[in-house]
Amino acid sequence: MSSDLTKIPLSESEMPRTWYNIQPDLPRPVPPPYHPGTLQPLTPPDLMPLFPVALLQQEMSPERYIEIPEEVFDIYRLWRPTPLVRARRLEKALDTPAHIYYKYEGASPVGSHKPNTAVAQAYYNKLEGTRRLATETGAGQWGSALAMAGRLMGLDVTVYMVKVSYQQKPYRRLLMESYGATVYASPSEVTEAGRKVLAATPNSTGSLGIAISEAVEDAVKHEDTKYSLGSVLNHVLLHQTVIGEECIAQLAKADEYPDIVIGCCGGGSNLGGIANPFLRDKLTGRKPNLRVIAVEPAACPTLTKGKYLYDLGDSVGLGPMVKMYTLGHSFVPEGIHAGGLRYHGDSPIISLLYDEGLIEAVAYHQNPVFAAAAQFIATEGLLPAPESAHAIKAAMDEAIKCRESGEKKVILFNLSGHGHFDLTAYDAYFQGKLVDTEYSSADVEAALAGLPQPAGV
Ligand SMILES: Cc1ncc(COP(=O)(O)O)c(C=O)c1O
Repeated sequence: MSSDLTKIPLSESEMPRTWYNIQPDLPRPVPPPYHPGTLQPLTPPDLMPLFPVALLQQEMSPERYIEIPEEVFDIYRLWRPTPLVRARRLEKALDTPAHIYYKYEGASPVGSHKPNTAVAQAYYNKLEGTRRLATETGAGQWGSALAMAGRLMGLDVTVYMVKVSYQQKPYRRLLMESYGATVYASPSEVTEAGRKVLAATPNSTGSLGIAISEAVEDAVKHEDTKYSLGSVLNHVLLHQTVIGEECIAQLAKADEYPDIVIGCCGGGSNLGGIANPFLRDKLTGRKPNLRVIAVEPAACPTLTKGKYLYDLGDSVGLGPMVKMYTLGHSFVPEGIHAGGLRYHGDSPIISLLYDEGLIEAVAYHQNPVFAAAAQFIATEGLLPAPESAHAIKAAMDEAIKCRESGEKKVILFNLSGHGHFDLTAYDAYFQGKLVDTEYSSADVEAALAGLPQPAGV
């Protein structure tokens, strides 16, 4: 029997005290990172100029559970537990017997799930004597999260913000600066990587791959500075599992368990964060029929149209090569409004789960995604980030299938952020001016052609 609650409460004392590391439960190990120059496996010392030891240990940890440090937990308590809400008014509008729940990560101070890892990364860096963190940001959500975490932990933060976003989203930049961060439009004159791009293409509007190269170079060249990544890596997904662990506790109070768990997928961190604790039950045989759906934009369909290969994480090859679904590191997707979903690659953990058939993926065009967001706004009153609207669209499609089949499924999705800094995107949609692009398979083929692969993998 499910309860008649709309918001499912969880007290601070019931919050999870550990993160869940899915790696020991996976059917095979996550392939190790490789050096882009030598094509040899990377060892932790190779990565020490970039990351603190504690995070490198988490990256490859065989432990299923890792304790959340007290200081991180105290900061989590500023906004966690986040609400789990039953979307009753949306269910009614769709006339579906399904129960739809959403986990609202937009409740964090910067408006998304990103602080769950930003705070943890800043904490371990501080412990190991890092003075400054360098990072990139696309749409600005990650940069805002790290800027806040740096401020709370007493670290300086430098953000390389993709130039097109820097120009289109001045308020995101101002938010980062309000936390004391230094923000450069990328490509910038500050790094060699940036200067090279500007020399070749003075009008470059930037890409996440270029901005990552700039941040990595900044970290490598400064002894007191480390690099911080907001998605993709194993330790990022680990920190995000606080989302799914809270959902399990909240749904238990409503006497429910999801049939389907949904998240949008850029680098894979909000999806892994909500889904991995549920996948634990699938992997250990308790819930063999659980479905997990990754949702991506048709303009950047990494899982649905990419290939499972070793590829660079950045555009220049300063960072490691990882095995992931990729559209090729030189692939530049069209400038859609869901900036957080424009990355060419994906988390190695999510990629492995997809390759093993343990999760599904679907890609949508922007107009139907915004139509779903508009219906969500009209029923639930909440204006989602364009990234999160992808998950809403998939949840609605599954709920409509339930209407047709009469099945009373429980659908859970991650509402990874609010869209209060994305109103120009909504304006374009409501005025019928949203440019809805499709990826070009020829561009992907060109970007993937001749990617060097390490021997024997
Ligand atoms: C609100 C929001 N959701 C989702 C994403 C996608 O990232 P990830 O796949 O790592 O969760 C982003 C990335 O910037 C974001 O800002």
